[in-house]
Amino acid sequence: FKIPTPKNEPVKAYRKGSPERASLKAELARLKGQELEIPMIIGGKEVRTGNLVSIHPPHELKHTLGHYHKGGAKEVNMAIDAALAARSSWENTPWQERAAVFLRAAELLAGPYRDRMNAATMLAQSKNVFQAEIDAACEMVDFFRFNAAYLEQVYSDQPNSAAGIWNRLEHRPLEGFVFAVTPFNFTSICANLCAAPAQMGNVVVWKPSDTQIYSAKVIMDLFMEAGLPAGVVNMVFADGPVAGEVCFKHPELSGLHFTGSTKTFQYMWKTIGENIHNYRSYPRIVGETGGKDYVLAYKDAKADQVATALLRGAFEYQGQKCSAASRAYIPQSLWPAVEEKLVADLKTVKMGTVEDFSNFVNAVIDERAYDKITAYIEQAKKDEGAEIIAGGNHSKEEGYFIEPTVIVVKDPHYVTMKEELFGPVMTIFVYEDEELDATIEALDTASPYALTGAIFATDRLVINELIEKLRHTAGNFYVNDKPTGAVVGQQPFGGGRASGTNDKAGSYLNLLRWVSPRTIKETF
Ligand code: ALA
Repeated sequence: FKIPTPKNEPVKAYRKGSPERASLKAELARLKGQELEIPMIIGGKEVRTGNLVSIHPPHELKHTLGHYHKGGAKEVNMAIDAALAARSSWENTPWQERAAVFLRAAELLAGPYRDRMNAATMLAQSKNVFQAEIDAACEMVDFFRFNAAYLEQVYSDQPNSAAGIWNRLEHRPLEGFVFAVTPFNFTSICANLCAAPAQMGNVVVWKPSDTQIYSAKVIMDLFMEAGLPAGVVNMVFADGPVAGEVCFKHPELSGLHFTGSTKTFQYMWKTIGENIHNYRSYPRIVGETGGKDYVLAYKDAKADQVATALLRGAFEYQGQKCSAASRAYIPQSLWPAVEEKLVADLKTVKMGTVEDFSNFVNAVIDERAYDKITAYIEQAKKDEGAEIIAGGNHSKEEGYFIEPTVIVVKDPHYVTMKEELFGPVMTIFVYEDEELDATIEALDTASPYALTGAIFATDRLVINELIEKLRHTAGNFYVNDKPTGAVVGQQPFGGGRASGTNDKAGSYLNLLRWVSPRTIKETF
């Protein structure tokens, strides 16, 4: 069938008194009223080990949401076997039928699964209602619908044929299994890291992050209800190094689809390199990793716009987006107006649990993140060249709460201008208006990353010059907008340098990585 031209899933507002708000609140209460027991799903079957690990909301540590069964090397091997057993029939399923599974998943998620996916993401990943809706509902629906449409684009790409000759490209899936290792911060990304290879006819061993397992279960239920055959995606819970040891040593590893830290990705790449002689084919390595994303304002920028971009870009979802703005370069002449608005607006921001929909800021994901982020804040309190102008307080008594914190520094190479904190901390360097070139140089060299960046300016020639000079500093570049919130089908997402392989999630470019085309020439 002809795949329908997708439109982005409309974002619901969950206004006070609306039926959608009442329904989501009821789902939050329902989930909180039960302790879920979450098995692994291997070959379509529930697998339990009895080695239970409990799950708590990061913003309400005394509450227990459920427990998951932790596996080890044995279960990872079972998952690989189940994937390989499903491979031939899935590979031979016509692509339109594979697309149909994910189009059905999109409809289920846009409708009956929406509340459950949002509520699970809110509770276990501490996302406010708006951040959950744009991720777990809309972005995930968009991934499924747009990827289905891109399938048509990929499969219709055929070479020319001359008279008496028929040339064709057969877009074969990779031979083996794809290992998907997914993060906690976007439920939609977790789903897509499995769905994109699966849509291209691959089979997947999926290891979600420990801190996302609660919504991972909902994704697996959704896949199965949509008709994904058993064994196409296998969800296994194990420590990263344990799962890696098994998957990277396996001769049938055909690809790695990863989102997470740069350090982990580099370790994985190295391990694949060490095992390179073992594989039947060279594994595809696709990774989206760290960022030290920036905002650069020019002196003719609009101060209000810059301040809003800093607040939203840095502090939505507690700064735990790989795209989050975490450093800014503001000219001296613009700074007083930006500072005034940013500090005033931050005073209106509320922090707390996800069930109170008026809270903009919730908790960071876990104790490790809390300890890491707050160590930088405490250091900044002591350092002479750093001044905290907003926030700075934190507590892990009831949940992992860190106030949105703004640090102003004198040195553009100060540690929090360079290193990825992955938390609600924005560091600002105020530059002399005439020092733009030196500032660009500092921006370019301060960090090894190149994921997202945003510039604010009015003069067209300046905008063009900045686009040119900052060419390699970001894979997603924004002019007069915050550097977060890429929309599937509109801004294909990914970065270069230490930020990943830039295989653009949410576009046909990513799907191309999951096929190994065969060229067939037939002479008549
Ligand atoms: N795609 C997400 C964003 O752009 C990471 O914020």
